[in-house]
Order: sequence, then structure tokens, then C-alpha cells
Amino acid sequence: MHITSDVLIIGGGAAGLSLALRLADKFSIRLISKSILREGSTLYAQGGIAAVEAPDDSLESHIEDTIDAGAGLCDKQVVKYTVEHAGENIRWLIEKGIRFTRNESGKHQGEYHLTREGGHSHRRVFHSTDATGEAIETTLEQQIYNHPNITFDEQHIAVDLITTQKLGQTGPNRCLGAYILDRGKDQVDVYQGRFVILATGGASKVYLYTSNPDTATGDGIAMAWRAGCRVANMEFNQFHPTCLYHHKAKSFLITEALRGEGGHLLLPDGERFMSRYDDRMELAPRDIVARAIDYEMKRLGCECLFLDISHKPAEFIQQHFPTIYQRCLEYDIDITKEPIPVVPAAHYTCGGVITDNNGQTDIAGLYAIGETAFTGLHGANRMASNSLLECLVFAQAASKHILSLINQPTIPTPTIPDWDESRVTDSDEEIVVHHNWDELRHFMWDYVGIVRSNKRLQRSQRRVQMLQSEIDEYYGNFRVTNDLLELRNLVMVAELIVRSAIRRQESRGLHYNINYPYTDDSRPPQNTILVPDNYQPAQKAAS
Ligand code: FAD
Ligand code: SIN
Repeated sequence: MHITSDVLIIGGGAAGLSLALRLADKFSIRLISKSILREGSTLYAQGGIAAVEAPDDSLESHIEDTIDAGAGLCDKQVVKYTVEHAGENIRWLIEKGIRFTRNESGKHQGEYHLTREGGHSHRRVFHSTDATGEAIETTLEQQIYNHPNITFDEQHIAVDLITTQKLGQTGPNRCLGAYILDRGKDQVDVYQGRFVILATGGASKVYLYTSNPDTATGDGIAMAWRAGCRVANMEFNQFHPTCLYHHKAKSFLITEALRGEGGHLLLPDGERFMSRYDDRMELAPRDIVARAIDYEMKRLGCECLFLDISHKPAEFIQQHFPTIYQRCLEYDIDITKEPIPVVPAAHYTCGGVITDNNGQTDIAGLYAIGETAFTGLHGANRMASNSLLECLVFAQAASKHILSLINQPTIPTPTIPDWDESRVTDSDEEIVVHHNWDELRHFMWDYVGIVRSNKRLQRSQRRVQMLQSEIDEYYGNFRVTNDLLELRNLVMVAELIVRSAIRRQESRGLHYNINYPYTDDSRPPQNTILVPDNYQPAQKAAS
């Protein structure tokens, strides 16, 4: 089947949904999502979205904090652009119906309640209690359902991008669409679009322990790389300091806002220890807090540390953190009375597909927005609550760019061949996929985690290359499935992470290597840019 629309958006999180809504009055939109529409990291976001609002705060301060957290690698122009567009994007969300929490009493009754998170020198985080992502995702999703120009396909996973280069055409590489597997029908279709957008989220599922949902398998990064896009800073994977530690709890985050509202990190004997690592204590940037917890856990040989907010009134805790309160109660932890057992877990992919300020990648007609993109905003460490902001600001920027091209004549599209299944059979060895998936996530956690070393990185590189050749062979012989596609992408992304980590011979932000424990101040900080063999310098004007 061949399906055509003006705009093909792959991914239904904050980035994909907001772009769809910004374009839908002028273009026909096809949005695909590999799970149900709402499933993705956005749905689970807790803390909120950063934007300057308080009278004692300023844009300069938000810019400075972001740059400080980014450890020398933020693109200052991009930071400025993002921070300056935060307010209008918050208003856009409010117009769309998102209800941010307001102060219920006191001097500022009725005004928005702004919380604090690590790295922020002011209260500037808009939130909907502790379930901000759910409020955004479900509200925008509702608008998607109601828009006549948007068609969406759930349980459809993009396999690979279709480009002119792939079809053997000469001239600048141009994106024409994507091959999409309909998981229900087990059939791969051709989806064509004049503009193709990767909004596929991050890749933290490459690690054994993660705060992310199962969708975070780096598909967009892997697809873009295979199609000829450069990627940057893949070594900077952020580990969130505080995920719930409980044998029955899978990937449940305890928001940094809990520390922002006064929560203390404790050793098993009850000692508050963060002063040994940073003057900002529990509100130091994430790389510092996660490393401190990792160090203390290894020093003491304990399985978790503790996060305590029980010194605050029970009513305050229940009002501000209703989701966390309820979820912990399910595991017999009453956070109004006792500390929460916590461990760090992989949380956010700072690197990604290189884009310009309009979200354009190296391939004409192909955009990347949200966690899958590398805009230069986060540098070596993303500051809390700047990610949802980036999704919205760059969806807006991409929409402006695409709208500006509305009257340009379209370049005729060459014939796109159907997906070729003539040489594959159904797999008789599904177990290989599951085994390789487990192996990959284990060694990435053990060797490419919070603390790295040359030896561990080299060991992981050998293993990743072995897995890659096994999976390539498997991919060539068997019919594609969702699990196989995700594994293929995860291994690709793991290879890019390890390669980037080996290349960075210093410690900076989220990348810490015991063989190079210091930041290299002898030369200007450098991004780690990887260039695929089939890269062609960009011809930006989209078709
Ligand atoms: P996602 O929301 O992850 O959406 C990706 C979409 O792409 C999904 O629909 C998925 O199904 C689809 N997809 C992926 N691959 C394919 C494919 N091959 N084919 C078809 N569809 C595909 N950030 C903040 O700023 N503030 C917070 O408070 C905050 N809290 C967080 C809490 C948690 C638990 C987590 C996990 C993250 C949090 N973050 C937070 C980070 C933030 O939520 C994410 O970075 C952001 O939501 C990413 O949005 P996105 O649209 O790029 O991707
Ligand atoms: C959190 O609520 O702690 C997560 C915030 C973020 O990742 O930006």
C-alpha cells in the first residue's frame, strides 16, 4: 500500500503532537506511532516545563543556568532562542487546555505555582501537580482526534527512511517518506510525505535500568544515521538520580521537584550527604547528584539510597505529589512518614540527530524534533524541565519553516518500490532477539554507565560490534517484527554511544571516565560529531 500526505510525522509525544497541531490547518498530516498514541516519555514526565515567570527571575538567569548545567557545550544562540520562546509556548499550551497548578493559598494565591529543580537558581517550573506529561499528552491527543486534517495510525512502526540516495538517484539527498510496519497486519507499507519529521524520542532503553517507557529505543537516531545524517554528543546520556527502588516497580521516577520542594537525600544510616559534593546540595545539576549517589552506593556496598520528604506536612506532600504518593503506597511506602528507596537510572539522551534552528537535518525534507534531535541546547548535561520546552519550541520553529515553504513548487517524486520480502522467511529463532536485547542492556549498564573507563568502553565496543553483525544477518534473513526493529536500532545507537564515549578523552558533564577524570581546559570544548559514510553535505531547501 502507498499512503501519501503533505507531512509525515513519526512519533506522537510532545514534539510530534504539537507540530501536527501547528501545521494541520494548512497541510494534510499523517502521524504514526509504534504503540498506542499516548505511549512515550512525554506521558510520564513529572516535574514540568521551565519558563521564566516569577518577578525576581529573568531570561538571562534561565540562560545562564542552562549554560552552566551544560558544562561548556551548550550552543548559546540556541539556549537564548529556546528560553526566549518559552513563555509563548506555555501560553500556547494553556490555550490548548492544559491546566497548570496554581497556588491555592498565601500571598500568591491564584498565580501559577512554580516549582524548582536541579540547576535552576529560581523557581521557574510550570507543572500539573506531579503528572505534567500526562496533562500535556492527553490534552493534545484529544485535539489530534478532533482535527479533520490529521490522520493517525497507532501500532505502526517506522522501519527506515526512504531517500533519493537509497533509490540510487544522483544529486542532493532528499527524504521522500518511510517504510512503515503495520504491526496488526504484519505488512510493510510505503508512506510518502513532502516533509518527513522524526519525533521518535530518546534511546534510554539501551540501558538495563531506565526511567523511560519501552518506546525509547532510539529508532529516529538510528534511521537518520542509516539514511546519511550526522549525529552529535551521543556519549552524554543522562542518568536521573532518583528512580524508585523496589523489586516490583518498573521504571518509576521520583521527580526532582520533590527535592525542589525540600526533599533530602540520605545514606542508609540517615546522614544527609550531598554537602560533600556540591554547595547546592540536592539541587545540584543531575550529573553531580547521580554520580554522588553512585559513588556512595559503591562505597557502602548498598543497593539503594533514600529520598526523604516526610518532614513536610502530609497534606502538602499529598497535594503536590499525588501520583508519587499513591504509587509508593502501592508498594507499602508511605512517603508522608518514611524515606523512599531510590537509585539512579538512564533517563535522557542529550545527543541525537544534528539539526539547525528550524529542526532541519542534513537531508532535505527531513526534520528531527524533541529528544531525538541534537539542537545544541543541552550541551554536556540537560537541565531539568528544559526537554519538554525544547520539544515545543522546536516544533514551533519547524512549523514556521515548513509553513514558509507552502507555496514552493513540489519536486516530482520518483517511483518508490514496495517493501521487498521476496528473500526472507518467518523467524524460527525469536529467542536470539530476546537474548541479544538482554545482553546489550546489561553490558551498556555495566560498562557505559555513570562511571566509565577505557577498558570498559573497549570491551563494550567489541561486544556491540559482535551483536551488530549477528543482528544484521538476522535482519537480512527474516521477516521484520517490532522487537527485531527495536533491537536493530538499539544496537546501532549503542555503537554510536560507545564510539562517541571513546572519542571524548576527558570527563565533562554526564560523561565521566576514570582514565581522564578532568575536564580538558587546554582547548575550546568540542561536540562529538559522527559522520556516516553516506553523508552528503546538506541542500537545505525542502522540496
Ligand atoms: P516521546 O514523548 O518519547 O514520544 C516518542 C514517540 O515516538 C512515541 O509516540 C513513540 O511511540 C514514537 N516512536 C518511536 N519510535 C517510533 C518508530 N520507529 N515508529 C513509529 N513511532 C515511533 N522532561 C521535562 O522537560 N520535564 C519533565 O518533568 C520530565 N520528566 C520526565 C519523566 C520521565 C519519567 C521521563 C521518562 C522523561 C521525563 N522528561 C521530562 C523528558 C521528556 O519527557 C522527554 O524528553 C520528552 O517527553 C520527549 O518527547 P518526544 O516527543 O521527543 O518523545
Ligand atoms: C523530574 O521530574 O525529575 C524529571 C524532570 C526532567 O527530566 O526534566
